[in-house]
Amino acid sequence: MCGIIAYSGNRSATPILLNGLRKLEYRGYDSAGIAIHSNNSIHIYKQEGKVENLVKSIGDYENDSTHMSGNLGIAHTRWATHGPPTTDNAHPHGASASGEEHNIALVHNGIIENYRALKSRLEGEGRVFHSDTDSEALSHLIDSYYDGDLAKAVSTALKEVQGTFGIACLAKADPGKMVVARRGSPIVIGLGDDETIIASDASAIISHTRQVIYLDDNDVAVIQGGKVDIRTLDASPVVRDIADIDWSEDAAEKGGYEHYMLKEIFEQPTAISNSIRGRIDTDRGTSVLAGLQLEPRDIVDLQRLVIIGCGTSMNGGLVGEYAVEDFAGMLSEVEQAAEFRYRNPIVGSKDMVVAISQSGETADTLAAVREAQCKGALVAGLVNVVGSTIARETGRGIYLHAGPEISVASTKAFTCQVSVLLMIALKFARSRRLSHEEGIKIAKEIERIPELVEEVLKQNDHIAKLAEDFVDYDNMFYIGRGYLYPVALEGALKIKEISYIHAEAYHAAELKHGPIALLEESMPVVALLNEGPGKEKTLGNVEECRARKSPVLGVITAGDEEAKINCDWYIEVPASPHYTATITSTVALQLFSYHVARLKGCPIDQPRNLAKSVTVE
Ligand code: F6R
Repeated sequence: MCGIIAYSGNRSATPILLNGLRKLEYRGYDSAGIAIHSNNSIHIYKQEGKVENLVKSIGDYENDSTHMSGNLGIAHTRWATHGPPTTDNAHPHGASASGEEHNIALVHNGIIENYRALKSRLEGEGRVFHSDTDSEALSHLIDSYYDGDLAKAVSTALKEVQGTFGIACLAKADPGKMVVARRGSPIVIGLGDDETIIASDASAIISHTRQVIYLDDNDVAVIQGGKVDIRTLDASPVVRDIADIDWSEDAAEKGGYEHYMLKEIFEQPTAISNSIRGRIDTDRGTSVLAGLQLEPRDIVDLQRLVIIGCGTSMNGGLVGEYAVEDFAGMLSEVEQAAEFRYRNPIVGSKDMVVAISQSGETADTLAAVREAQCKGALVAGLVNVVGSTIARETGRGIYLHAGPEISVASTKAFTCQVSVLLMIALKFARSRRLSHEEGIKIAKEIERIPELVEEVLKQNDHIAKLAEDFVDYDNMFYIGRGYLYPVALEGALKIKEISYIHAEAYHAAELKHGPIALLEESMPVVALLNEGPGKEKTLGNVEECRARKSPVLGVITAGDEEAKINCDWYIEVPASPHYTATITSTVALQLFSYHVARLKGCPIDQPRNLAKSVTVE
């Protein structure tokens, strides 16, 4: 989704901003732009397409002593919402009453819901618009209130705005100053030596500083060089904590891998180790999750665990639901976050709601968190990005510690989410019905996950080879049962988003209730066939598929000869209970999707139309 980077300090802003834009590319975008305050003017360059198009359009900025040599600037990657991905619709949006020079320049993430009313009012006042965007209305609105005090103009304008925003704004008449603000769309302020770097996420800041301030909703900050003055919309001063980013710049680089996705798949043993480190107590057969702020008595009093999320995070949540019911005998349900927020959900003080989100910024999940809080539920976050909105608003929860996930398609976040959900289920189970002995068994199985994943990664070459047989298919089915049903959902999601093969996941038993009509030679089926409950029944479904000429790729337990002879291709994963086979089998399918997409020449890290952090509804 859209990305913001802005700079105020002593150095030339242009190279810093262009590098920052490159770091934001992973979020998904379709145009980019930059505005530099230099020689008493604001100079704006924008281009459709990739950041490199923008760089070319600017020309030789290093030897330019006028246009692009300033040390104050803002820049943006746009993911189109209002209007197509054109140069005119790219940010920054300049504004002035005369339309000749830019008095104001603005970059905006989020959506201005009442932009039509604002735009027609401003057009009525004689202002000329050059884009289809909602953001340009905000730029003109700020300019219409500007009388020499940029912070005041921004605050006045923002009070009239309905919707969400993370913004950075410059005024021609205020050479040293920038104003940034947020409501529902993150802004991180990086504190350097006599300089400040602002961005919509920390990955664009980390090469400059690790000290950051996360703005809260309705904060307005005035930045001048290294000085940061944060106020509310009503201009009352507020103090926000300074946080340290706890991951290194290397963690956000490709590190020799062809794609971020592959690197992140291979990072999973380490990422999962980081997620579970210090949180498993094998002696007591339980997990230690202080962030949940729950005593055993509180857990006994809970009636239900509701898990909310979107996409991959929701699929991870489904494994959590099964584990909580299986280990703890406690009622648990997964809800798609957008459904939860809009259908007046029945939750209350006896329910715990766990919101799962890699980014911690997903608009639907955040709104669902607020709805659950409003209804009196205990709400916890299961989040990867430290300091993100969901992490802060829930106030209790568990960080994944998976490290930055740059590839748009989520991989390590999923396996870390499942690992943490298994630990939650274990903790709940031990406070309720699970014996010491059973608890120790599960705790030890969770501790084994990183080494099991290492084993699956050794299959990489084999998976790359069999992927060659799949590049020409247009459609696929994925089937699984029990714990392996969420794996089918996640496998199908992964292949469709990165390889553009249409894939649908079904509970294996559902196949004969309709989808079986589509089975034929051109419809391969991926079957989750790990040894354990339901395997024989899924094998029966595999036979039904093959009887209709659908070829079958099985994900099977290593050495399972019975499964092998029933499949056209197979990937072996190490023997483990189904609750951890969710992770090993998913890793196998991540690699499978990756290699199919690679062989098809797809843009794996930034698939078309997708964004890393979905901050709009
Ligand atoms: C798929 C994917 C998405 C996200 C979803 C939720 O690979 O990445 O389905 O899982 O947009 O995002 P988060 O977890 O950031 O809330």
